[in-house]
Amino acid sequence: MSTLTKPLLYNGYKINDKLSVTGRIEKVFFTEVYNLSDGRFLYLFTNIKSNEVRGDNDQLIRIEASGSEYLGLITDSYSQEQVTKIIDSLTELKGFDAVAGMRELKQVLVEDVINPLQNPEKYEKFKLSIPNGVILFGPPGCGKTYIIRKLAEEINYNFVEIKHSDIASSYIHGTVGKVGRLFDAARSKAPSIVFIDEIEGIVPKRDSLGESSQHKQEEINEFLMQLNDAAKDKILVVAATNRPQLIDPALLRAGRMDKRIFVGPPDETARQELFKLFLSDRPTSEIDYAKLASLTANYVSADIEYMATEAAREAVARDLDTVDQSTIENVISVTQPSISEEELAMYEDFRKLQRW
Ligand SMILES: Nc1ncnc2c1ncn2[C@@H]1O[C@H](COP(=O)(O)OP(=O)(O)OP(=O)(O)O)[C@@H](O)[C@H]1O
Ligand SMILES: [Mg+2]
Repeated sequence: MSTLTKPLLYNGYKINDKLSVTGRIEKVFFTEVYNLSDGRFLYLFTNIKSNEVRGDNDQLIRIEASGSEYLGLITDSYSQEQVTKIIDSLTELKGFDAVAGMRELKQVLVEDVINPLQNPEKYEKFKLSIPNGVILFGPPGCGKTYIIRKLAEEINYNFVEIKHSDIASSYIHGTVGKVGRLFDAARSKAPSIVFIDEIEGIVPKRDSLGESSQHKQEEINEFLMQLNDAAKDKILVVAATNRPQLIDPALLRAGRMDKRIFVGPPDETARQELFKLFLSDRPTSEIDYAKLASLTANYVSADIEYMATEAAREAVARDLDTVDQSTIENVISVTQPSISEEELAMYEDFRKLQRW
């Protein structure tokens, strides 16, 4: 990390004090924060160059100091949270570039979802339907939410997300209105992807509904109606669940969510790519990615992300210059996979529900 030795001037504003030095440990990304004589604040990103920035931020400025160029940003307020947000926006990969592995899934999404959405006339001419919805199922932490967020970036759609537990309401009819309002919001921002997590809560099997199921039935009907109309309003509905056995089969009928995609734990190649991705913006010495992948059968994507972060944290704690092989292997040896083998076997059984 470099420190500025001489006081620096920006557009005539003098820097008063250095307020803090923030090490964003997870990303080994350092930010110095200064207050300026006009009451505003300068964030100085000391170890990222302008050509390394991935995200867009038109407020960024270049600052020459001590013969080097730094990136900076001037803001009216200063908070740790804001620094973190800005760093995230600058370092985040966008679209499918940010997705490790999942080759087959990306291909299905391109061929069966993106292409029809973007060339509807061609598909209609051949009497092929444009998908209203897709359902993803599989164990937690394997990237269901993540891939769809990245799909939205890839095709420049707005991303509207809800979880059943967020909208569940104890008031009669409460949820019905909320589903409608959500779709209204998505329509007004179209083209949009509406991502519905815990779909089994919104459209549960009818025989599991109790006596007082009248308003639940209305909610299901409203949801199915919204779904039937989605494509023509440029809305793609993507539902996700860890418990596909609890969904009402009416949802899976042709024309509704007739594409069902299993998102399982990463295979060996995907695990290599995940490690590469999560270590890509951190200083590393030479890493044997094939070996890391071979050591991590049964770990899900979220586990690999966690272990890469832990290894970086460990490197900082031990004052190493880089994250090295043995540090990562140590972290792997003390980290349990988040999903047990029995649970994985149960999820594996769901694979046969897949259809596209
Ligand atoms: N293919 C991938 N490439 C890069 N990162 C990934 C990938 N898959 C998952 N991740 C990472 O793993 C984390 C967990 O994934 P995500 O939250 O999408 O899982 P999920 O399947 O939606 O889980 P849940 O069922 O608990 O909602 C994500 O935040 C993301 O950082
Ligand atoms: Mg999720």
